[in-house]
Amino acid sequence: AVESKICILGGPGVGKSALVVRFLTRRFIWEYDPTLECTYKHQTTIDDEPVAMEILDTAGQEWTLHREGHVRWADGFVLVYAVNDRNSFEEVVNIKQSLDEIKKTNVQCVLVGNKIDLLHEVRVPYTEGERLANDWACAFFETSASDGGDEIYELFHELHREIRRR
Ligand code: GTP
Ligand code: MG
Repeated sequence: AVESKICILGGPGVGKSALVVRFLTRRFIWEYDPTLECTYKHQTTIDDEPVAMEILDTAGQEWTLHREGHVRWADGFVLVYAVNDRNSFEEVVNIKQSLDEIKKTNVQCVLVGNKIDLLHEVRVPYTEGERLANDWACAFFETSASDGGDEIYELFHELHREIRRR
């Protein structure tokens, strides 16, 4: 099987763990549990090819402590903000900057605006996320871990394809 190591990064509470759990189990977790770092192994098939995926779910508050290690470990990154949290959008910009500094080159990533189900609380419109992703030349998805939806599967598959293409 082809391997890909994927690291999920983003500010506290944006829904990183909820997205990973949804992707792996098709379920949603409501309880807020500030995660300690956790790695999942996932066997799947993408474009008719068997894939051994490893997913590292990081803790939003502690990411700076471990970032050198993450960057060395990962083949690609899912950078998550919450559409109802302006600060979390600024945070992914900072994270991407330090990823680029550490790797000294453009890293493989996808940008994700989560919690799109909170229609009335949107603080970061679609077009802004799209523009940032354009700057980074990476794919962009809006998701709702609570509603589910194909975008959640699509974003992991797309990142895997990017990693393969490199
Ligand atoms: P840290 O691990 O602390 O960095 O947080 P996290 O990014 O893993 O966030 P987590 O998945 O724990 O979700 C934080 C809170 O947001 C939880 O109460 C979730 O149930 C909720 N949540 C996650 N995704 C969504 C979503 O798409 N919509 C809504 N409405 N709530 C969500
Ligand atoms: Mg978490």
